[in-house]
Amino acid sequence: MSENILTVTDLVTLYKAESKEVRAIRDLNFEVRKGETIALVGESGSGKSTLGLSILRLIEPPNEISQGKMIFNDHDGEVSILDLSLPEIRKFRWKKISMVFQSAMNVLNPVMRIEDQFIETFEAHNIEGDYSERINHYLELAGLGSKVRRLYPHELSGGMKQRVCIALALSCEPELLIADEPTTALDVVVQKEVLLELNKLKTNLHLSIIFITHDLRVAASVADRIGIFYAGRLVELGPRERIISNPRHPYSKLLLSSIITTNTPRGKKLATLSGSPPDLSVEIKGCSFYARCPVRVDSCLSYNLERISVEKDHFAECIRAKEELDVSTAALNAKEVN
Ligand SMILES: Nc1ncnc2c1ncn2[C@@H]1O[C@H](COP(=O)(O)OP(=O)(O)O)[C@@H](O)[C@H]1O
Ligand SMILES: [Mg+2]
Repeated sequence: MSENILTVTDLVTLYKAESKEVRAIRDLNFEVRKGETIALVGESGSGKSTLGLSILRLIEPPNEISQGKMIFNDHDGEVSILDLSLPEIRKFRWKKISMVFQSAMNVLNPVMRIEDQFIETFEAHNIEGDYSERINHYLELAGLGSKVRRLYPHELSGGMKQRVCIALALSCEPELLIADEPTTALDVVVQKEVLLELNKLKTNLHLSIIFITHDLRVAASVADRIGIFYAGRLVELGPRERIISNPRHPYSKLLLSSIITTNTPRGKKLATLSGSPPDLSVEIKGCSFYARCPVRVDSCLSYNLERISVEKDHFAECIRAKEELDVSTAALNAKEVN
């Protein structure tokens, strides 16, 4: 049996408007291992949510997944997600893979008590058994008491609503959970609690998790592996400790160096990332980070994006990945090109 719960190969997702086509996911390859949390970190607009929606086949026409393969593999065998019929994908969603959507707490139905939102979900997915016990169980797992059942969303705090969404996503007992910025809307203390809860759930339920965030610090606190997302691709992927202590892609290095830690000397000038990501409606030649990269060279423009392996289980999509480059100093002096 494969050690991967999900294997994504050459995935392309397009948003189509009248005059242009945005290539939000660009030939993406990665896998989610059984029982791991893989965090995908990237700036707003880099395609993280699009990836989550693509995995669940929630991309609506005229937008489309135009290419690729996604293989889900569990004890019931292998499923090719893109080959499922519509009735099949409806059955598959939530039961095998579920998602906590970005700003999920706003998707709770305001005129429905919490327990009715669970019951609606169970009915929609033909789940049988004692609903009441199941609701209590998942509320408790998400750190909530059964009193919450009788309440309406507006009677709950932001943190509680987010926990309800997590409980709802888990209540169909999926094997893979996609959590899209599940803590972004929460204050720091509550954010920590919810992250701890998710980690506990992963262990107790033998879940695999794709954790989507724009915050590298959050990723570092939850992930086994971290993938750095840029312009619809993973530009670096490796074990958490490696990405935090020895990132090899200039973009990852800049993301990391822009984080202020308790060890950052006072008055230290922090290199910030200038410029903006590339226009995804125009074909990108070579490295997509070229225009913003403080250590770019001409050959980056003809780079075929072959993964450069820097250590076992750790790659970066950068032709200079093996060089020792001080990106922060270079960034302070660099100018953007177009
Ligand atoms: N429904 C949509 N129609 C057209 N373009 C979209 C749509 N949703 C997202 N995009 C574009 O796709 C790219 C990726 O967006 P998204 O996946 O939301 O990024 P992230 O979650 O990383 O912030 C962005 O350029 C965004 O503008
Ligand atoms: Mg998003």
